[in-house]
Amino acid sequence: MAVKPLIAGNWKMNGGGGAGIALARAIAERAPEVAGRCDLLVCPPAVALAAVAETLAGSAVAVGGQDCHGQSSGAHTGDISAPMLAEAGASFVITGHSERRGDHFEGNALVRDKSAAAHDAGLIAVICIGETAAQRDGGQVFAVLSEQIAGSLPQGTTAANTVVAYEPVWAIGTGRTPTAAEIAEAHAHIRAEIARIAAGAADLRLLYGGSVNPENAAELLSVDNVNGALIGGASLDAGSFLAIALAAS
Ligand code: PGA
Repeated sequence: MAVKPLIAGNWKMNGGGGAGIALARAIAERAPEVAGRCDLLVCPPAVALAAVAETLAGSAVAVGGQDCHGQSSGAHTGDISAPMLAEAGASFVITGHSERRGDHFEGNALVRDKSAAAHDAGLIAVICIGETAAQRDGGQVFAVLSEQIAGSLPQGTTAANTVVAYEPVWAIGTGRTPTAAEIAEAHAHIRAEIARIAAGAADLRLLYGGSVNPENAAELLSVDNVNGALIGGASLDAGSFLAIALAAS
């Protein structure tokens, strides 16, 4: 069965106010151009999520958070729970992004708890995995991915409640990408590993992320087992984001 691609924008710490609403509006206006070709998702900063969701209401563009806490409420200053994201209009949440793993020392067990909390709140978890440059140079890509999958995917993971994004850390924001062959072997490995622990792995969407842009999108999105992209920098411009989406099929 063909899996419908997901084109997801991770705005990171950008587009928090009026700029985010303007970006959402520009994407929504052009979303009909990609109808039937792929699903669209934008992940604004938490403070802008409700306003962006309101702006996108009635459009084909879904909204996601960039992170969530592992518990639904409580004394956790500065944190945001999955039910709160859902209430604000999110249907997805990114977990385990390498910037969270790196900047906030998040390990696989925490990513698993956050992803389980997302599932409990009815959100689709976009669980990020990927090796560092040193791990690739050391020939550890498959081992790292296997460990991250075993550790980060919660029990009850299915194709309906989870998307996995392969984002080599060294490719994020650098303009460098793996070759199509390297992505193909990583994604084949990821799908096989997920099949060991989750139902319906063949239909679970595997995104590639890291320096995706309108120029390289067609090649990257046509790689076997790549079911869409997670896009940082290029998702901050509606034209670039839609151009990438138009390369999906
Ligand atoms: P990038 O970021 O597209 O700017 O490389 C991707 C990501 O971190 O999700």
